[in-house]
Amino acid sequence: FHVDWDLMTAEKAGFDHFMLKEIHEQPKAYRDTMLGRISDDGRSVALPELKITAEQLKEINRVHIVACGTALHAGLVGKNVIENLVRIPVETDVASEYRYRSPIITPDTLVIVVSQSGETADTLAALREAQRCGARVLAITNVVGSSVAREADDVIITLAGPEIAVASTKAYSSQLIAFFLFGLYWAQTIGTKDEAEVAHVLAAMQSLPEQVEKILAQAEVLKEVVESISHHSSLFFIGRGIDYAVAMEGSLKLKEISYIHSEAYAAGELKHGTLALIEEGTPVIALLTQEDLYEKMLSNIKETKARGADVLGIINEGHEAEVAKSVDRQFAIPRTLPLLTPALSVVPLQLLSYYASLALGHDVDKPRNLAKSVTVE
Ligand code: AGP
Repeated sequence: FHVDWDLMTAEKAGFDHFMLKEIHEQPKAYRDTMLGRISDDGRSVALPELKITAEQLKEINRVHIVACGTALHAGLVGKNVIENLVRIPVETDVASEYRYRSPIITPDTLVIVVSQSGETADTLAALREAQRCGARVLAITNVVGSSVAREADDVIITLAGPEIAVASTKAYSSQLIAFFLFGLYWAQTIGTKDEAEVAHVLAAMQSLPEQVEKILAQAEVLKEVVESISHHSSLFFIGRGIDYAVAMEGSLKLKEISYIHSEAYAAGELKHGTLALIEEGTPVIALLTQEDLYEKMLSNIKETKARGADVLGIINEGHEAEVAKSVDRQFAIPRTLPLLTPALSVVPLQLLSYYASLALGHDVDKPRNLAKSVTVE
C-alpha cells in the first residue's frame, strides 16, 4: 500500500489551490477575529489590546488610513465604517505616496496602517513618518510580532491564519471585521452610537460567517459565469458608495491573477469619459447592495446596457426578479446591514477571479511578477 503526497498538497487540505482554500476559510477567519471581542450579551465590543484610552479617543478629530493594494482597499471600506459610526473625517492614502506629500498630521490625528504581512516597506515607512510627525498609529495586521505590529502604538490582530496565496482574500475580509469592531468600539466609547445600535450591528456581524458559507455553497454558479468574462481583454467593475470600494478590490483581484485588464469606477462617474469604452459585449460587473443607491445604480447599469454591455449584477437576495430586467446575469448575496455588505459581496468577486485565472491556465497562487510580501520600496 502506497500513498503519494507532498507537504504542499497536504497543506491545501484537499483544495486545488491555496487561494481557494483561503477563500473557504473566511467563515472561520471572521469567527476567530470576532472571538472574545464581543461581550457575552452581544451588546458591546471589547478591545483590551488597545492602549489608547477613552480620553485619547475622544480627542481624535481626524483619521488617515494608509496601506497598499488590497489592504488599502480594506481601508477604503474602513473609511466608510468610521465616518458612518464615529462621524470623524477619514482620509485614505496609498502608503508609497503618503510620506512624500507632506501629509497634514496633527497630534489629534489617528493614523491607521493596514497590512496583512506587517512587513510591507511602504506601509512601514508611512507608519514611521506618522509617528515622527507626532501621530498615534494603530495597526491592523495579521502577523503578531511583525515590524508593523512591533512599531505601532496600538495593534488589532486579525485572526485569519497564515495566508499563502499571493492574492489576498481572507486577510482582506478579516481586516473588514477589524474595522467593524474598531468602529463600533470607538462609537460606543464616545457615544455616537447607543448600546442598542451597537448591539444591532453586532448581531448582524455574527451572522456573517454563516452567510459566507451560503455564498460558498453557490460557487459553481460563478464557475459558469466566468465564461462571459475570461475571453475579454478588458472589463469594468462599477458600484456606488461602499460598493465602489469593493469594486476596486474585485478589479485588483482579477488583474492580479487572471491578467485581464479591468477598471473599477464609481458608477456615476462613467458618463464623464469611460462610457466611451463600453461597446457591444464589454463585460461590466455591477455591485448593487446599497438599498439607498439602488435606483441610481439601475440607471447607471442602463447607461452601460444601452452601449451593449454584458452585465453581471451582484445583488441582495430578494431583488432577483426586479433586477433580472436590467442585467444579463446575477448573483445574489444574503441580506445584511448596508455597512457590512463588503464582507459578503467580495466573496463572489474573489471566486470569479479564481475561476478566471484557472480557466486561462495561470498559476493562481503565484501570479507573474508579484511577491506575497513587498519588502522593498
Ligand atoms: C493582494 O492581493 C496583493 N497581493 C497586494 O496588493 C497586497 O495586499 C499588498 O502588497 C499589501 O500587502 P500587506 O497587506 O502584506 O501589507
